[in-house]
Amino acid sequence: MEVENLQDAHGGPLVLRLSDPTKTDEMLQRNGPVITLSRRSLSDLELIATGGFSPLTGFMGKKDYLNVLSHMRLENGTVWPIPITLPVQKAEADAIKTGDACFLAGEDGVIYGMMTVEEKYQADKEREALCVYKTTDKQHPGVKALLNQGDWYLAGPIVLLRRPSHHPFEDVYFDPTETRKMFRELGWKTVVGFQTRNPVHRAHEYIQKCALELVDGLLLQPLVGETKSDDIPADVRMESYKVLIEAYYPKDRVRLAVYPGAMRYAGPREAVLHAIVRKNYGCTHFIVGRDHAGVGDYYGTYEAQELAGQYAEEIGIEILKFDHSFYCRKCQGMASAKTCPHRDQDRLLLSGTKVREMLRKGIAPPPEFTRPEVADVLLRYLGRKE
Ligand code: ADX
Repeated sequence: MEVENLQDAHGGPLVLRLSDPTKTDEMLQRNGPVITLSRRSLSDLELIATGGFSPLTGFMGKKDYLNVLSHMRLENGTVWPIPITLPVQKAEADAIKTGDACFLAGEDGVIYGMMTVEEKYQADKEREALCVYKTTDKQHPGVKALLNQGDWYLAGPIVLLRRPSHHPFEDVYFDPTETRKMFRELGWKTVVGFQTRNPVHRAHEYIQKCALELVDGLLLQPLVGETKSDDIPADVRMESYKVLIEAYYPKDRVRLAVYPGAMRYAGPREAVLHAIVRKNYGCTHFIVGRDHAGVGDYYGTYEAQELAGQYAEEIGIEILKFDHSFYCRKCQGMASAKTCPHRDQDRLLLSGTKVREMLRKGIAPPPEFTRPEVADVLLRYLGRKE
């Protein structure tokens, strides 16, 4: 598998839904109802338009929605794990007629896109929660977001009129067309994508570097869309990635690029979505480690990699599966149960909660867990917060 041109996206060529810049002003002058999008829907709009969500051309209609829930496929058979829908309140849906061309605004009131409404239908939230998140527990952040959003979905093809701001990440914002060009220019034939919503700790670094032993380059692509409130904010994480790359990575073999998507915390199904998106950005390989995109104990440790592995061939991306990695004092290095014969007592096993607790008390996690440069960034953030 090699990085190819724009023909080689998920389910066909890369789908771009960007307006012709010479026509944008004229389109903005038209009359039409305005729908205000949540932060999540705005990032979905952008990902549909830039090809991150290829082959989608708009927000999903009912047939695709139901098929995705039951079979993890669009109606035409293409693998797709999570509904990409545009939720609105009933009153808003009632005010819109099918066939209407609507403006899509952000919460800031700026018009970002247009959609021709082909369909409106009621969400089946219970079924959606069970199929996508495998639970209806309101404590699950994905289920909570689902229950809090409107009960009706508007569907139809979209076009992006303006790009949402990526401040302060403009220097690391690249859409799928740009990353594909970047890989070509770098001469990378094989590229591994890495998804994260956390600072890069030693275990993340270890699995990235194991992957780098096999492929030409690493696309470190942290998610900067909506996350739950106790996740470390994107600007702090971004600073931590930059100091880490500066001190510990070969510059010519890694590129940092934000992924503007929202986190769903859907574990296995989200791992499949993340693999599809990275395929669209031009990656040939994708890392799935322990409890990918998981939260609490809703999913089995390796469920995400099993599911992503099942669909990898169809998507056309190789899943690099990694076991739970840690620092072993006896091995004096990073390892996993696949490479280390020692006991738990010899291993440095810290939970995310424990690390957050240490940082809050002003204590840096040990260098075997987090690089000191990264710990400094995190300590400064938590000092600022308290
Ligand atoms: S998330 O988007 O998957 O929630 P997170 O930052 O927690 O982001 O993890 C990024 C990637 O690293 C995922 O593929 C995850 O499975 C993997 N990962 C995280 N910690 C470990 C670990 N200790 N050992 C192996 N893989 C890990």
